[in-house]
Amino acid sequence: MSVFQIGIAGLGVVGAETARQITTSYDMLSRRAGKKLKIIAVSARDEGKERGFSRDNIAFYKDPLKLLEHDDIDVIIELIGGEGGIALDLCQRALEAGKHVITANKAMIAHHGFSLSELAEENNVTIQFEAAVAGGIPAIKILREGLAGNQIDTVSGILNGTCNYILSKMTSAKNTFEEVLEEAQKKGFAEADPSVDIDGVDAAHKLAILSAIAFKQQIKFSSLSVSGIRHVSDIDINFAGKLGFCLKLLGIAKRDCSAEITMALIPSKEQLASVNGALNAVSYRGVPVESSICIGPGAGAGPTSSAVLADLIDVASGLANFAYGCPVKALSVQKLDEHNLPKQCFYLRIAVTDKPGVLSEISAILRDYKLSVASMIQNGQSDNGPVFLVLTTHKCTKKTIEAAVSKISLSEHVLDSPMLIPIYDSGSFG
Ligand SMILES: NC(=O)c1ccc[n+]([C@@H]2O[C@H](COP(=O)([O-])OP(=O)(O)OC[C@H]3O[C@@H](n4cnc5c(N)ncnc54)[C@H](OP(=O)(O)O)[C@@H]3O)[C@@H](O)[C@H]2O)c1
Repeated sequence: MSVFQIGIAGLGVVGAETARQITTSYDMLSRRAGKKLKIIAVSARDEGKERGFSRDNIAFYKDPLKLLEHDDIDVIIELIGGEGGIALDLCQRALEAGKHVITANKAMIAHHGFSLSELAEENNVTIQFEAAVAGGIPAIKILREGLAGNQIDTVSGILNGTCNYILSKMTSAKNTFEEVLEEAQKKGFAEADPSVDIDGVDAAHKLAILSAIAFKQQIKFSSLSVSGIRHVSDIDINFAGKLGFCLKLLGIAKRDCSAEITMALIPSKEQLASVNGALNAVSYRGVPVESSICIGPGAGAGPTSSAVLADLIDVASGLANFAYGCPVKALSVQKLDEHNLPKQCFYLRIAVTDKPGVLSEISAILRDYKLSVASMIQNGQSDNGPVFLVLTTHKCTKKTIEAAVSKISLSEHVLDSPMLIPIYDSGSFG
């Protein structure tokens, strides 16, 4: 059996576990790859730190670029992270030097994936990034290989475990966002600075990658509409429950139409509604498959390294090909036309003063915009406090409901910015 030589940059949560797996499951992985998988050099900042695997006969460098001085390295596994900087520099130089690259770096791939893949093609090597999307779910392989014969129309799902954990816990324990976030940070489900997760950016990175593969288009990250859960209120979670829905942060990309990360209400009976805690789910809708959904752990050492190892076996055995399923030049230019957006139902919560005539004023505005109401709840009576008027609409355009909400906001009886949340059902996401 010939030897396939590996350099790993980054020995943190994912890197250390990947190295541990390669060294402890050496026989099994090598048999599957058809080559002896041998780590010959690694890089991290702190040389003295215990990493949970034997570094005997493995060179160590503080500077990741030193890995490239090993002419005999076949693949660089980049597990440092960050959209640009040293991670991008290392990947570019590795590809230019004719080395394959495997990475879990979703930020880098969402922003630079096409140029890196082109560079790989020019140098007759490959770059693979299965671990960048929903680690324990082979989300990219399903799309690129399992569903290769489909015209995919929608790809969607729960793409951020931290947000899903927070929303699930707020729903089950009836705690506030701040309480659950603090608990999630203590348990290690959320970073000390949770912005990238709770503002939807991490989920957007994954959706951009999936959309490019699904639609065979060069998706621009800046074209995604991204909002997170920072302003989620337990009030909406409670009202959603009363109306038979649960609240999730969804990523939804529709061919030639839109790609967004948004809080959404989904009927409690839908499969996605039962995906709780830190789990992820990816749902595909296309022709001829109709719909397919995959649920699993999206992050953590085990699930993420599992995806890195799958890429490693593909690359070493020669199975790995174009990361997006075709050469980058064969990807079409992204087409986004909001006019193609289908009509949908919405949830609207309005905090109003408890005065006669308020309901009729709001009803009149809805009537003027030809919006019809599917259900309504009014409660929350408290001394001089707001009364909440909560309604769901029948299907309408986003533009129409947003215009109506702007008009409603101007009423002297409306005490706060109304909360507008789209409602998705299985017909919408797969
Ligand atoms: N963690 C997850 O669950 C997960 C899931 C999916 C994807 N990912 C992606 O996987 C990648 C790695 O994530 P991680 O959680 O494993 O990160 P991490 O625990 O923070 O590890 C980063 C590693 O990179 C090393 N490093 C950082 N800056 C460096 C520099 N300038 N030069 C040399 N080494 C440097 C660190 O060295 P020291 O250890 O010496 O500090 C550390 O070993 C990221 O792209 C991330 O988005 C992670």
